[in-house]
Amino acid sequence: MAPTGHNRQPWRFVVVENLDVKRKLLQITLPLDQEMLKRLKTTDPQLYASIRKSAQCTPEDPIYFSASVILFVIGTGEGTESIDCPLVCQNIMLAAHSLGIGSCMVGAGRRGLTEDPEVVKAFELAEEETIYPPIVLGYPKSSPEPPPKKKPKITWI
Ligand SMILES: Cc1cc2nc3c(=O)[nH]c(=O)nc-3n(C[C@H](O)[C@H](O)[C@H](O)COP(=O)(O)O)c2cc1C
Repeated sequence: MAPTGHNRQPWRFVVVENLDVKRKLLQITLPLDQEMLKRLKTTDPQLYASIRKSAQCTPEDPIYFSASVILFVIGTGEGTESIDCPLVCQNIMLAAHSLGIGSCMVGAGRRGLTEDPEVVKAFELAEEETIYPPIVLGYPKSSPEPPPKKKPKITWI
């Protein structure tokens, strides 16, 4: 039900529940994430510390947090896809929350996937398609307070 330019709905979904596939995804994304973290340690130590902290809850899977489901929104390359797909992602996360399901978008969870032939085949990925950062979903163990938010900067004219 997310709005899209000219109602094109330029998306499809890949829902990963299979444990072997989840392992394969982690095998691809984890080394790339570790490389990125190594660089971040010197360029942005504060962000590095924060990422390390959030990974502590599931050290065996600091990318997808051992979630029950990893949901990928795939943009089909039409019209205003790059705006439409994040809108559908937000709707999915809000719908999940309304059902008592926790979610998190993980940018680290799509790194390197389009370069892996097995993933391309399994996802039935076409040349013109884009994998958006996946949304991990599962029943939450706790309900942490949301992190502080900045006061929005608004220019009234
Ligand atoms: C584009 C995007 C990429 C993100 N990537 C990651 C990620 O790789 N790992 C992670 O743990 N969280 C990731 N997040 C979640 C953010 O860290 C989280 O939304 C932010 O800290 C604000 O917290 P809140 O959503 O609870 O308000 C990502 C969120 C967005 C929107």
